Parts: sequence; C-alpha cells; structure tokens
Amino acid sequence: MKLALIGYGHVGQAFAKLLEQKRSTYPFRITAIHTKRHGTAYHPSGFGPPAASVDEFLESAGADILIELTTLEPATGEPAITHIRKAFARGMHVVTANKGPIAHSYRVLCAEARKRGVEFRYEATCMDGAPVFNMVRNDLPGVKILGFTGALNSTSKIAIAAMREGLTMEEGLDRARRMGITEADASYDVDGWDSAAKTAALANVLMDAGVTPQDVERRGISKLTTTKVQEMAAKRKTIVLISRARLTAQGLRLRVRAEVFDDTDILASVPGTSNLLLLHTDLMGTVGTVSIDPGVAQTAYGVFSDVVDIARTL
Ligand SMILES: NC(=O)c1ccc[n+]([C@@H]2O[C@H](COP(=O)([O-])OP(=O)(O)OC[C@H]3O[C@@H](n4cnc5c(N)ncnc54)[C@H](OP(=O)(O)O)[C@@H]3O)[C@@H](O)[C@H]2O)c1
Repeated sequence: MKLALIGYGHVGQAFAKLLEQKRSTYPFRITAIHTKRHGTAYHPSGFGPPAASVDEFLESAGADILIELTTLEPATGEPAITHIRKAFARGMHVVTANKGPIAHSYRVLCAEARKRGVEFRYEATCMDGAPVFNMVRNDLPGVKILGFTGALNSTSKIAIAAMREGLTMEEGLDRARRMGITEADASYDVDGWDSAAKTAALANVLMDAGVTPQDVERRGISKLTTTKVQEMAAKRKTIVLISRARLTAQGLRLRVRAEVFDDTDILASVPGTSNLLLLHTDLMGTVGTVSIDPGVAQTAYGVFSDVVDIARTL
C-alpha cells in the first residue's frame, strides 16, 4: 500500500516512525511528502523544491492513499478540504487527522468518496488514537447517539494545571507547546476553536448534524486567571473546557465552555493530555472512551489504524 503525505510536522513524522516500527507486519510505504515551506519529497530522492501544485504532487506521488496532515484552519477547514477532494477525484482513499474537513464539509466529502468508490477515514481527529468513530461504526450497531460530553482539548488542560501550580496562562501554553500538542496558533485552543471544531466534527459524524464550528456556542478560557484557578483548587474544584451536544425539543444544541467540577468528578479526572468522551445513547445508556496521556505517537496510531482498516476493505 503506497501512501502520500501532505503535511509532515509532528504527526507526519511520528506516523513515519510508527510505519518503520511495524514494517515487517504492515508493509505500507510512504512514496511522497508535500509540505508548505520545506518543499516536496519523492521516494527515493528526498526533499527538493515544492511541487507546483497539489494536483502535480498527487499525480507524481503514485500513491493509493492520501494522508492529509496539514494545520487546522478552524474557520474554513481549508486547504485540507481541497486536498481531500483532489485525492478523491483521482480515485485515492483519504485518511486525515485534521478535524477541519470533518467539522466543515463532512456530508459533502462522504458523498464524493461514495461516488468515487473510495474510503474516507478520520479516527485521529477528535481523540488522538482512541477509538471513537470506529467504535460506534463497528461495535454499537443500531445505537442512536443522543448527545455527548467531552473533555477534549489537551492544551487548555495543561495550561489550567500549570495555573493551578501558580504559573501564568502563557507559561502553561509554553509547556503545552514544548509537548508538541498545541495547534500551530495556540489561540485556537485558548479561544475554544479547537474544541468547537471537535464538537462539530463529532456531531457531524455521530449525529448527522450538518453543522460547522461556527454553529457551536463557544466561550474559551482566555479570561481565566491563576488566582481564579487557585481559588477553585482550594475548594477541591477543577475547571475544564467541556464540549457538549444535546438533542432538545428545539433541535441540537452544541456548546463549548469552561465548567467547574469537583476534583472527584469523572470529567475532572482526565488531567494533562488525557481525553474523555462520554456518548449518551438510546440503547447503551452512557458509554465512553478515555485516553490517558496520549501524545503525537497516539495520534499517529489513529492515522495508522485507519490505513489498516482501509487495507482490510480492499
Ligand atoms: N499534534 C497532535 O497531537 C494532534 C492531535 C490530533 C490531531 N492533530 C491534527 O493533525 C494535523 C497535523 O498536526 P501537527 O501537529 O503535525 O501540525 P504541524 O506540526 O504544525 O505540521 C503541519 C504540517 O502541515 C504542513 N502544511 C501546512 N499547510 C500546508 C499547505 N497548505 N500545503 C502543504 N503543507 C502544509 C506544514 O508544512 P511545513 O513543515 O513546510 O510548515 C507541516 O509539515 C493538524 O490538523 C492537527 O489539528 C494533531
């Protein structure tokens, strides 16, 4: 199975490492890599000048699957959406860790993939490598998702934990940056855009919502102070940026907001980069998935699991 990567940052490089580690069992091969500033590489010649266009890159890459790993652009989902459509148009399957396309154009992209007879996978977009979409697709047949509650943004959790220790928000964000988990622009995390994009993506896939991040009622943590976080900590309470989806008589309500929990609450029990998602369902009550301290290696695994899944369908 030949793979072409657009984007070779933290996730792309961790993915290449994982492929190396599993090469004897899973003989997937990266045949080409395209980046914004670092140029384009075709196997085996290595990085040279950038391809003149994504079309030219995909044409020369000779790959079966496009792995789309470019930076999140939460307001539009571009240029990742265009990259994915161009790959579909060439009959390529697509795996992405970029939540932008799922948050903005899920229905359209699925329809295009169906029309072209190709697969489209995105497991790593919301919970790094922890199974969410594949779990619902494969293990919860007939179940209707009525809503969800998630602590899904690692950067805000790292920043709030640092503030609990007495550091400033900026110092906390620096800590998250050093871990390689912030969005390229950390204000997307702080202002709740990353969470809004994940909320829209989850709602689109799990609840057929047809929404965008702009449809999510959003309040970030930019106004949170170290004093406030420490006051809460003294009362054994924790502040967590929470994503919620709820079906109401008026329709679907989507919200991202910093909420206060007792330290012992399940939603406060996922510190650091850990993620927790609870799905509220008609047949299975509330079920969830949790990922303890995932890093880019786990995001890379989410991408890898999608590639394996596609390889199985062929
Ligand atoms: N990091 C995580 O833990 C994590 C977890 C879940 C999901 N994700 C998602 O995974 C994606 C990649 O994350 P990352 O941490 O690897 O990001 P990153 O380190 O910032 O790398 C982004 C890569 O995309 C390339 N790129 C950006 N715009 C491009 C364009 N228009 N055309 C071609 N290449 C372009 C960059 O090229 P240059 O190298 O030339 O700048 C870089 O190689 C993001 O969408 C992110 O939201 C990340």
